[in-house]
Amino acid sequence: MKVLILGGTGSIGTAVTAELVQHGHSVIGLSRSATSDHKLRQMGATPHRGDLRVPDQWNHLVAEVDGLIQLATTFGTDMAQVDADAMQAVLAQAAHRKAPLRLLYTGGCWLYGATGDNLASETRPLRPIPPFAWMTQNGQELAAAPQVSAAIVHPAMVYHQQGGVFSRFIQQAQTGAPIEVWGSITTRWPLVHREDLAVAYRLLLENSDLTGTYNVAAEPGTTVADIVAEIAQRHRHQAGYLVRNLKHVIAKHGDWAEGPTLDQQMSSDKIRDLCGWAPRHIQFQDAVF
Ligand SMILES: NC(=O)c1ccc[n+]([C@@H]2O[C@H](COP(=O)([O-])OP(=O)(O)OC[C@H]3O[C@@H](n4cnc5c(N)ncnc54)[C@H](OP(=O)(O)O)[C@@H]3O)[C@@H](O)[C@H]2O)c1
Repeated sequence: MKVLILGGTGSIGTAVTAELVQHGHSVIGLSRSATSDHKLRQMGATPHRGDLRVPDQWNHLVAEVDGLIQLATTFGTDMAQVDADAMQAVLAQAAHRKAPLRLLYTGGCWLYGATGDNLASETRPLRPIPPFAWMTQNGQELAAAPQVSAAIVHPAMVYHQQGGVFSRFIQQAQTGAPIEVWGSITTRWPLVHREDLAVAYRLLLENSDLTGTYNVAAEPGTTVADIVAEIAQRHRHQAGYLVRNLKHVIAKHGDWAEGPTLDQQMSSDKIRDLCGWAPRHIQFQDAVF
């Protein structure tokens, strides 16, 4: 398939781009710098210069691709509007197509809010943390649009060779300072390695009749205690940890910091059953990071 990926140079997007190219897909990646051009070319993708904020620079490509993957976020105060405008521009172009555009839109586990002892499946009502609430609305609009065949992907917390969601703990362990835990040490995080997540994106892209929402977690809910213990052991870290409460982390880092404090468990039975998704990394302790 010919695919346009927005965010193909990001933490998740690089893995998705590599996975698609390795499986024979032709990938065009939106790029806003020479560094990103180089990154995309090295993975075997074709860069297309443009900014997510200026859809006119890239949305004409919607006419010539089979699929589009949205993995780009500015993470600034404008991120909701930028995403809404970009997706509206995609829908406007897709309306001129003969066949619906296959579209994978990215949400995330934080859209479920805290689940506690319940395992969130795709039927669970969404209770997003405020800074990412826009994702639920934008995803719902795409899901209802007839000119696209949309699947909404909710990745778990994503880790990889360079750390990903573990990076902050790793950096603190390396400095010898106590590892800072946000919320509670008993908080559970659903986890997925980005290589496994990339396979999920490819399978969903290829199964273009599969619409709706798909959770992607290899481990439904791993405690922060287990993650901190593993990192402390790997780095021979002796300084222990300290807990920062929600009010403190939001005041210091912004309202997105509620995300890592959510006690969550997320099931991915649906994508396993419908796509045969079978993650290779089933225990983060066995991975390189
Ligand atoms: N990481 C996780 O654990 C996780 C979990 C669940 C959901 N998600 C969601 O998944 C999505 C991707 O996350 P990520 O961790 O991969 O983010 P990331 O590493 O920060 O990547 C963001 C991507 O967006 C691109 N981008 C940002 N602003 C742009 C602009 N103005 N024009 C063009 N491209 C722009 C970046 O391009 P440059 O290379 O040029 O910077 C990069 O490719 C986000 O929506 C995030 O909320 C992430």
